Amino acid sequence: MKKTIILLMLLIGISTIKADPITIRISTDQTDLVLQTGKNGRLFQLYLGEKFSSPSDYTNIPLKEKTDGMSWETYPVSGADSYFEPAFSIEHNDGNLTSILKYVSHTSKKIDNNVEETIITLRDDLYPVEVKLYYTTFAKENVIKSWTEIVHKEKKAVSIKQYASSMLYFRNSSYHLTEFSGDWANEVRESTQQLNFGKKILDTKLGARANMFVSPFFTVGLDQAARENEGVVLMGTLAWTGNFRFTFEVDNLDNLRVISGINPEASHYVLEPNEVFKTPEFIFTLSNQGKGQGSRNLHRWARKYQLKDGEGDRLSLLNNWEATYFDFDETKLAGLMKEAKDLGVDMFLLDDGWFGNKYPRHSDTQGLGDWQVTKNKLPNGVPGLVKTAKEAGVKFGIWVEPEMVNSKSELYEKHPDWVIQLPNREPYYFRNQLVLDLSNPKVQDHAFSVIDNLMTENPDIAYFKWDCNSPITNIYSPYLKDKQNNLYIEYVKGLYNVLDRIKAKYPNLPMMLCSGGGGRSDYDALQYFTEFWCSDNTDPIERIFIQWGYSQFFPAKAMAAHVTSWNKDTSVKFRTDVAMMCKLGFDINIKELSKDDQTFCKDAVKNYNNLKEVIYDGDIYRLASPYEGNHASVMYVDEPKDKAVLYVYDIFPRYADNLKNLKLQGLDKNKSYRVKEINLMPGKTSKLSCNEKTFSGEYLMKVGLDLFTKDRLSSRILEITAVGL
Ligand code: GLA
Repeated sequence: MKKTIILLMLLIGISTIKADPITIRISTDQTDLVLQTGKNGRLFQLYLGEKFSSPSDYTNIPLKEKTDGMSWETYPVSGADSYFEPAFSIEHNDGNLTSILKYVSHTSKKIDNNVEETIITLRDDLYPVEVKLYYTTFAKENVIKSWTEIVHKEKKAVSIKQYASSMLYFRNSSYHLTEFSGDWANEVRESTQQLNFGKKILDTKLGARANMFVSPFFTVGLDQAARENEGVVLMGTLAWTGNFRFTFEVDNLDNLRVISGINPEASHYVLEPNEVFKTPEFIFTLSNQGKGQGSRNLHRWARKYQLKDGEGDRLSLLNNWEATYFDFDETKLAGLMKEAKDLGVDMFLLDDGWFGNKYPRHSDTQGLGDWQVTKNKLPNGVPGLVKTAKEAGVKFGIWVEPEMVNSKSELYEKHPDWVIQLPNREPYYFRNQLVLDLSNPKVQDHAFSVIDNLMTENPDIAYFKWDCNSPITNIYSPYLKDKQNNLYIEYVKGLYNVLDRIKAKYPNLPMMLCSGGGGRSDYDALQYFTEFWCSDNTDPIERIFIQWGYSQFFPAKAMAAHVTSWNKDTSVKFRTDVAMMCKLGFDINIKELSKDDQTFCKDAVKNYNNLKEVIYDGDIYRLASPYEGNHASVMYVDEPKDKAVLYVYDIFPRYADNLKNLKLQGLDKNKSYRVKEINLMPGKTSKLSCNEKTFSGEYLMKVGLDLFTKDRLSSRILEITAVGL
């Protein structure tokens, strides 16, 4: 009897002992994301913010685990007890729409001294559904990547209706979202709004040219609108070359949820048993020194870990698009190649209009898809052009658009079933073209062959400009049959298959990502591309804004900028000074320029070559915003703080402008720096009183220099060099 009582007491004791919560700390040198299991076995966000010096402090934070619909669950599922936007939603085989995910296990492993990966497994205890949360941290760069893998073992396929890459919670006095939206030739226009109760969604359903209207990145200022050098900001971006969605939801208690992932619109994905669904990576940094530091974090991370050839050099170029459009022949191109050499750039880039025989590509109405050179236009073929470029002393690059087709093309005539189009409706054409069905492996082979055939025939091709001028319209894949819901996603996966094959076979081939201007700029594509075309709009005034916008997330070497004839009211110097802020190219008839302008351009290329390491790999400091006045200024400083390049623009200054000194940033206050104006017009000397003088870093940063003027559309570039170098 006594024994039974003791046993009973023991059993009662055991059942009332609660398992200790599991705490998972995911950190960079600056940020802590701490997750913890609740009493119900589910996983919650305990903390996200500036790193704590003592982890024991976390024990004082109350876990928001109450199942009153407002908990901070890490990956909440729809249908059970979540009152707000879920991260995940599924329809099981029995028609049930709920799942509850409980913590199962987690692992953390160091990839190297800087990179650590944490994997957390969650499982539904009623249905065989498992979700793995992945977090990769980059300690020094203060960047975190998070994504999810979903798998199930139900008898038949399930439909997953939401599948976020990540969900983050914030509790601040106010939230201020900066979005980057616009249109063709008007990309990444910044606008900021305060978030109040309810949802703000940034999304796209354009499929291929996905970010024609809005880019896959954002900034949230916490407690105040994001500022350049102060305050806490979240800067996030989704690495996905397709439909994305960011949902910002403020709840009844003024918490903010930030949910990032593929846009599930028209994509209720059919997931087969045991098939792993991997969401794209959401990449973010939490800076407590404003968006300036946030950008520097992302740039450093991108160069080291993400961007194709992120730490390598780039090729300057002369492109023929605006100089000739479709109207060229071998003689004209040979002339341009010589001009490229004369100008001092590394490469000549041949744009659209070189292919098609039955339907020669004389305009954008036909020929797309027929990647054979137009024989009567270019009788010596691409090999002839490569040879002429070699003789001229420049490398040769070429434009392609492998994902697309004109209905007036041999490809379309041969393979109408390779095209995304509705079987029962008239097609809607965007730029007279249709999108090829990259979910189909045969179409992937075709897209790969566009590059592979050219490279096989011409191993000396040094560069590709990969364009994508249409969004996906007429959404229907003849290949996917009853899985039409998977098309937007399979398209992107198909594209990555093609790009993976190209990267594997031609690992050192630089490529520019272009999409009717800046219709694609995301960090998954940028694993395959060394740079992207920011916009077809090369009016330097507009470019100051566009490049300002992209510079929030991308390093200068990833952003292609060309000197063109857009806005002839601006001088060639002004246009060049703006393009030199990024990866420099020219797309202009050099011969049509005045002698002085031609000499200026050649000198500018030399200056650029001298400074490109700082421009490409230096830290960016955005000193004066074009959004806040009539001037703009940006500078780059190399890592040892020995060399800097400073760009100063007067856009439309007013007579009444009270010009203030421009205070530099990012220098070493204890070093002395020589300041020198470069990129002067031939025969002109600098009017700057600081030119060829030496200042301490402290002076340059505390007092600054008198660099702005009231001259409309004028610009200056300064080279700043630590004395003694
Ligand atoms: C797109 C690109 C341009 C040019 C044309 C060619 O619009 O953005 O730079 O290559 O296609 O058709």
